[in-house]
Amino acid sequence: MKNTTVYNCSVIEMDKHHSDVGNITVIENNNKDIPFDVQRTYYLYDVPGGEERGGHAHRELQQLIVAASGSFDVMLDDGNVKRTVTLNRPYQGLLVVPGLWRELNNFSSGSVCLVLASHKYNETDYIRNYEDFLSYKR
Ligand code: TYD
Repeated sequence: MKNTTVYNCSVIEMDKHHSDVGNITVIENNNKDIPFDVQRTYYLYDVPGGEERGGHAHRELQQLIVAASGSFDVMLDDGNVKRTVTLNRPYQGLLVVPGLWRELNNFSSGSVCLVLASHKYNETDYIRNYEDFLSYKR
């Protein structure tokens, strides 16, 4: 999707069930918790300090990015505006619309980046070159 902007992304607060023995947050395919059905879940962990992940855009994929543990920054770029969001709560998630360049960095030690995605893995959905991304958005 070409016409999306960083302002189409938002941090959502998921439900959190408290108890004396810990918390639990649930996300279901119910057209209510998040605006897409989840086809794939993956997580990033053991990212060495100072390293960066991402560095690409998706043409159609929607994602919910959650700091399941620890913290990291997500830099979003629509070719015009850049916006950085820090994630550091397991009950908050960043909804990322298609058509945005993203870079993830500043991973805290032991952090886990959980990603819920709207489609199965498809390399042809990726734009991995920044100049190609800018041409796509023009
Ligand atoms: P990539 O999405 O480029 O990683 P990141 O954005 O976190 O830096 O994926 C890294 C590698 O993992 C890539 O070569 C393909 C593979 N991969 C899969 O096979 N399936 C998946 O669902 C994902 C996300 C990645």
